[in-house]
Amino acid sequence: MVTRNSTNLSELAQRVVEPHELVEGLDAIRYIKACDYQKTSDYGILAEELYKKFGLLGKQVLEIGSGSGNLCEELMTMGTGLVVGVDAAETMVAHASKKYESLIKEGRMKFVRASVYGMPFSSEFDMVVCQNSFHQLYKPREALQEMVRVAAPEGVVYIADFRRDVSEDSFRRRVQYTKPEIRGDLINSIRASLTKQEFRDMFDSIPDISFSVKDAENPTGLSERVDELIKRDPVPHWLDYLISQRVEIKKFKRRCI
Ligand SMILES: C[S@@+](CC[C@H](N)C(=O)[O-])C[C@H]1O[C@@H](n2cnc3c(N)ncnc32)[C@H](O)[C@@H]1O
Repeated sequence: MVTRNSTNLSELAQRVVEPHELVEGLDAIRYIKACDYQKTSDYGILAEELYKKFGLLGKQVLEIGSGSGNLCEELMTMGTGLVVGVDAAETMVAHASKKYESLIKEGRMKFVRASVYGMPFSSEFDMVVCQNSFHQLYKPREALQEMVRVAAPEGVVYIADFRRDVSEDSFRRRVQYTKPEIRGDLINSIRASLTKQEFRDMFDSIPDISFSVKDAENPTGLSERVDELIKRDPVPHWLDYLISQRVEIKKFKRRCI
């Protein structure tokens, strides 16, 4: 996955997809290790953001590209009814299924190996969330359509991901504090991400929704827990807001005519 560590902003003009769409095998093991969960704050910060925005109590939530399941765990501890993680990589699903074996037996979590382009679900989820995985997808338009399909009527799709429309200053600042061994990965992920406008342009093909696409906001002060997570994290992951965006889609209830 690593190419080189250049931070030249002109290289962000065009989207360059990741060399592999899935994070599989040894790459998956390296990724899981690099996440540094639970020291890392980004999963907890997003869970708090979702809780504050939409509430999570009793909800049926689906995470797309769930990797090792860290966000699923955070959401579950905030009171969701069921959290399902879907990932097409065998190593990721095997890892998460083993890690959360007892919670899966209790029926609170589930991990399914499937591609986002054809998920084995009906329109059943109150919330469909995708954290730092959307940039990984080779067919973003198809993925969006399918994510909206599996959301229940009046459900929400929420994407938290990197964006390529960053300022040179923010880009350099964020890259500079990343551990050297994963700096190339981060640069590749930003290169593979979509701009806000590229997201907006994809929505004409999706009926019965409203949407907003915005730069992420500084999470400091969102809640006492967020401030605590930021304080505890040895890496300033909270600064991700400088290079990230939030896409929020609301699915309408279809009217019978
Ligand atoms: C960069 S990782 C992020 C994992 C996790 N969301 C996190 O933040 O730690 C992206 C994940 O998306 C998964 N993925 C990529 N393409 C996919 C697809 N077409 N369908 C389902 N999952 C996919 C990868 O296998 C990988 O686990």
